[in-house]
Amino acid sequence: MAKTALITGILGQDGPYLAKLLLEKGYKVYGLIRRYSNPNFSNLDFLGITKKIELIDGDMSDESSLLHLIKRIMPDEVYNLAAQSFVGSSWQQAKLTTEINALGVLYMLNAIKLFSPTTKFYQASTSEMFGTSHDDGFQDENTIFHPRSPYGISKVYAYWMTVNFRESYDIFTCNGILFNHESPIRGIQFVTRKITDAVARIKMGLQDKLSLGNLDAKRDWGFAGDYVEAMHLMLQNEKPDDYVIGTGENHSVKEFVQLSFKYAGISDWEKYVVIDARFKRPAEVPNLKARATKAQKQLGWKAKTSFDELVKMMVEADLKRYQNK
Ligand code: NAP
Ligand code: GDD
Repeated sequence: MAKTALITGILGQDGPYLAKLLLEKGYKVYGLIRRYSNPNFSNLDFLGITKKIELIDGDMSDESSLLHLIKRIMPDEVYNLAAQSFVGSSWQQAKLTTEINALGVLYMLNAIKLFSPTTKFYQASTSEMFGTSHDDGFQDENTIFHPRSPYGISKVYAYWMTVNFRESYDIFTCNGILFNHESPIRGIQFVTRKITDAVARIKMGLQDKLSLGNLDAKRDWGFAGDYVEAMHLMLQNEKPDDYVIGTGENHSVKEFVQLSFKYAGISDWEKYVVIDARFKRPAEVPNLKARATKAQKQLGWKAKTSFDELVKMMVEADLKRYQNK
């Protein structure tokens, strides 16, 4: 019998990469989508797997939809990737962010407890939970949380609820504390894709300025395709646990900009970049860098794609999109 997996957030960035990995491993994959008049399947299309996923209607903020679907499909594994995942919007939409990212996880865990307690559960936790906190410049599983946004706070609630269902009810639940990961199908609002898309448009003569906020923020950026492997490995491990996933290297937004222009063959990047206060945040997370040694030792996981390779991949994909248009 093929294993079954439910992926929430199937239309986002990570959902399609994870679905592709699971399909290659022979899984039957269900994808949760919220009702839209015109759903956007472009990320699944990009990976060529749209028709291979069984899509199910539901919403993380609607408990009854989750109860019904878990009762009906009783999947072997649930990967909870759905979220209001844009940090910048979470100050304006704090309640919605909390309902989806925090309460949604409680609803899903309750559904598993009631109707399918052997289902293994993966929670998409995040380095944003660390905020300004670090140990010698790194963050790992022992670093205390100091979230700096309503998004980070909602994810801390979900993190502890995931731990609590493991400790209280013996359900197989894991938190993957993932640092920033990107790809050619990254949402356009996130800084990396905003940059590579703008650089491609500038190269094609479709745009002449790139407006950004804080160029000094540093992130530990990896490739989403590598990170979904860690999600799967966590649920195949003998015991459930929580893992930091990242490359161990960080770079500033400015470095990302410089390299993107370089890969597009534009030398004078400063001519195109303007600082716009609208893209600065009320409270910034200045510096994230993972110490992912636990994942390396216990899961055998290590990031494969370098920073340079990631930037090049994203710039080339955006150039190709515009050239094809
Ligand atoms: P993403 O591209 O923003 O995708 C999130 C998905 O969640 C979207 O498909 C969205 O659906 C769905 N969603 C939002 N609200 C929902 C609701 N109420 N009910 C059902 N689905 C809903 O995010 P991602 O980059 O793939 O990240 C996946 C997860 O990992 C997120 O939980 C994120 O917070 C977390 N995370 C991401 C990173 C990263 O660097 N990418 C790092 C750490 C943790 P629509 O398509 O309908 O909008
Ligand atoms: N989005 C954006 N737009 N960010 C900008 C801009 C801009 O114009 N200019 C500077 N930045 C800075 C932000 O202030 C932040 O310090 C950094 O670029 C990265 O911003 P995002 O790409 O929006 O990602 P994030 O780090 O806030 O959040 C992402 O990673 C988290 C994991 O650490 C998201 O994917 C979250 O969902 C995820 O949990």
